[in-house]
Amino acid sequence: MSVHKEIRKVTTHRLAEMKARGEKISMLTSYDYSMAQLVDEAGVDVILVGDSASNVMAGNQTTLPITLDQMIYHGKSVVNAVERALVVVDLPFGSYQGNSKKALSTAIRIMKETATDAVKLEGGSEVIESVERILSAGIPVMGHLGLMPQSINKFGTYSVRAREEAEAEKLLTDAKLLEEAGCFAVVLEKIPAELGETVSKSLTIPIIGIGAGGGVDGQVLVIHDMLGITQQFSPRFLRRYHNLAAEIKGAVGHYIEDVKSGGFPNEKEQY
Ligand code: KIV
Repeated sequence: MSVHKEIRKVTTHRLAEMKARGEKISMLTSYDYSMAQLVDEAGVDVILVGDSASNVMAGNQTTLPITLDQMIYHGKSVVNAVERALVVVDLPFGSYQGNSKKALSTAIRIMKETATDAVKLEGGSEVIESVERILSAGIPVMGHLGLMPQSINKFGTYSVRAREEAEAEKLLTDAKLLEEAGCFAVVLEKIPAELGETVSKSLTIPIIGIGAGGGVDGQVLVIHDMLGITQQFSPRFLRRYHNLAAEIKGAVGHYIEDVKSGGFPNEKEQY
């Protein structure tokens, strides 16, 4: 008799329940099938196919160049691997701002072609029409406030956001607007911990932080950063759980030595 393990898929409803009972939500990015399979099997709650793929997968300086077709490619690769986690795909820069009809058709393409569970987009009042139109089609939306990498050219730096009262107030108002519109969660990036906690306490939907302190309802990191694959990027909020760069370089170096010395393949590794 085979023992079949029942997998209970994470839903937006389950995330709301987790916040209600005070259970923190774990979220990580993934962009490809093999990594997503490992991350899902490890038990993470949410997998974000972030537009940070533009940086860590394609080597671009910003998230702006990544295209909708490229996001769909990454989204589908991740969805193919995932059995348990809720999958969220980022809407890329230029595919939703200033035109809610375009935003809806972008979100529908992503849903149809990747079979993701939800989408994420950056901004508050400026994009609320787009948010509402996507939600009206029954597509779950995650918001993203604070440091919004798609607006890097407006701000000019990746420094901590909403330190000033006016910006902090706008952030809280925007978060409430996203909740009222029907978003199921909001990511807050690189803001003071106190503000993160205030937003989390003011909203009933889960608030997921990246550099937003410990008072929010969950945490998200870019997988390449937390595994120590990326080496140049070291913001204060980043905890590296491994030094995979050193391990990969060590293993590749060992392989090169074996090839050069004729030690690979050995007798058993050939036909
Ligand atoms: O694209 C991304 O990886 C993100 C996270 C940093 C939240 O939006």
